Amino acid sequence: MTDAKREHWDEVYRTKAADSVSWYQPTPEPSLRALDDLHLPATAALIDVGGGASSLVDRLVERGWSDLTVLDIAAPALDVAKARLRGEAAQVAWMVADVTVWRPERRYDVWHDRAVFHFLTEPEQRLAYRRALEAGTAPGGVVIVATFAPDGPERCSGLPVQRYDAAALAAEFGPAFALEREWREEHTTPGGGRQSFQWCVFRRR
Ligand SMILES: C[S@@+](CC[C@H](N)C(=O)[O-])C[C@H]1O[C@@H](n2cnc3c(N)ncnc32)[C@H](O)[C@@H]1O
Repeated sequence: MTDAKREHWDEVYRTKAADSVSWYQPTPEPSLRALDDLHLPATAALIDVGGGASSLVDRLVERGWSDLTVLDIAAPALDVAKARLRGEAAQVAWMVADVTVWRPERRYDVWHDRAVFHFLTEPEQRLAYRRALEAGTAPGGVVIVATFAPDGPERCSGLPVQRYDAAALAAEFGPAFALEREWREEHTTPGGGRQSFQWCVFRRR
């Protein structure tokens, strides 16, 4: 399963320009706004799960964040981000892993996930994700997660997705995670399409 997934995502990042994929954002505005609203110190440990080639890490390096990790199943995605960051890439921990089999070796203050969780269409995959999430966060830690909303697309990158509203995401994450904020975003794809996203901020109890 992991091999097929990895091959899918490797192929995506090998064959498509990073700024042509549907999830491309010139600036990761919703994530940056969510982080600004949390008033976290730049020393907070943040992991971008399924970070891909997102420029979130670039913007956080610019802002002086000093404990950044980007995890993705696709090595070519991380290569794009590393090449863009050049020398500054050395300030970031890069991990090639499937989050559903990954065992975190430390805890993060911020777990950020834009558009990975919604690919987990099987209950056991979501359970495995939650195990990683629980192992990778401590009480007081923050989870910023975005998925397609109920009126969002049924597929992404050719794969089926599970769509969520805030209540459904809170039910998935369970009572250990208190929902602090939620909002919807209309993402504009590079091709001009519109995609409804559901964003949630949870605090680990
Ligand atoms: C829709 S893209 C979003 C990328 C990035 N978060 C962004 O906002 O630009 C989904 C990303 O999740 C990664 N991914 C998919 N399944 C994964 C898994 N099981 N474990 C880790 N990464 C995964 C893909 O390689 C891809 O980079």
